[in-house]
Amino acid sequence: MTQEDILKALGNVQEPDLGKDLVTLNMVKDIVINDNNVSFTVVLTTPACPMKDLIRNACENAVKILVNKEAIVTVNFTSNTTTLRKDKNILSGVKNIIAVVSGKGGVGKSTVASNLALALADSGAKVGLMDADIYGPSVHIMFGVRGERPMMKEGEGGKGLIVPLERYGIKLMSIGLLVDEKQAVVWRGPMVSSAIRQFVSDVDWGELDYLVIDMPPGTGDIHLTIVQTVPVTGVIIVTTPQLVALADAKKGIAMFNQAQIKVPVIGLVENMSYFIPPQGGTELPNNKYYIFGKEGGKKLADEYDIPFLGEIPLVQSIREGGDSGVPVMMSDDIISKQAFIDFAANATRGIAMRNAEMPATEVSEVLEVSGS
Ligand SMILES: Nc1ncnc2c1ncn2[C@@H]1O[C@H](COP(=O)(O)OP(=O)(O)OP(=O)(O)O)[C@@H](O)[C@H]1O
Ligand SMILES: [Mg+2]
Repeated sequence: MTQEDILKALGNVQEPDLGKDLVTLNMVKDIVINDNNVSFTVVLTTPACPMKDLIRNACENAVKILVNKEAIVTVNFTSNTTTLRKDKNILSGVKNIIAVVSGKGGVGKSTVASNLALALADSGAKVGLMDADIYGPSVHIMFGVRGERPMMKEGEGGKGLIVPLERYGIKLMSIGLLVDEKQAVVWRGPMVSSAIRQFVSDVDWGELDYLVIDMPPGTGDIHLTIVQTVPVTGVIIVTTPQLVALADAKKGIAMFNQAQIKVPVIGLVENMSYFIPPQGGTELPNNKYYIFGKEGGKKLADEYDIPFLGEIPLVQSIREGGDSGVPVMMSDDIISKQAFIDFAANATRGIAMRNAEMPATEVSEVLEVSGS
């Protein structure tokens, strides 16, 4: 067996999402051959890649069938999160910027954004979470850092930079960490926009694979400020299964699809999909009650031809986790955690596909958007 043999064989293994082979995509490195033993490393597009096992099997089969049926194949994995970021003026170390949005309020954006950030970090990614909800911040509460204040440091040219608070491995910024909670509620539009711009340019986010932005409800000024300030890689729409939430989710989709904005929708996640009653501290996985209706989110995603990223159950521990500052991803509620892990894996897959198939997002120049 030679390196060339191995590369030729792996040239037949497709990356399932990107539709090209591993060699063309430059995903194979460190091939080591020792008699019948061969090992190599596959560089995945994200640490959370849900296709690992599939890729491993396909690689093993390719080597055994095309090179040497006696081969003992070891496939190692590493990852290098893909990015299309080229502009280095803003958030220069951030590879992907993901906005979590909804039309309707209270559907669970902050819960989803927080646990998505934690699930991504759990898979090995470097993650930040920016709370863009200036009028109703939640991130500081959900991460149990209420009342804490971030430190300052000196950046390039003596510029003062805010050091984001770090909790559970996530870098956090929220207006709730900077001002008294009652204060920002009375701010006017320009102050809100300048706070958002400060979160982008005056916070020392450093190197991140993903910066998750928890957006306010609706399709308003803060959304416009965000798309005018940062090149958002893509948005994730959160909805609940009820018709009223689905109708508002459509407005969210429409906003980001507008010709002037053009931020790709990575997909839609349905929150509070079904209720699982607690039973003596453990949840009963087979007792699912679809109290808000079934598969409304899935149908909406199909209607708009956007990927459906998962169903998050309605569980008491998710609500308790949000209130107590220990998000469910940090708890021992295995069912809810698995739902977030699966959703995060689908989301990162969607981001990798988006990066492979579409051009980079430009910062939007739009000043006014209909329906906002
Ligand atoms: N899957 C869930 N199971 C149980 N409770 C949930 C779930 N998702 C969210 N909640 C609870 O519902 C409430 C609203 O959630 P959250 O604050 O995340 O919504 P939001 O969309 O960010 O709201 P807003 O529009 O006000 O920003 C919170 O108390 C949260 O703990
Ligand atoms: Mg919120």
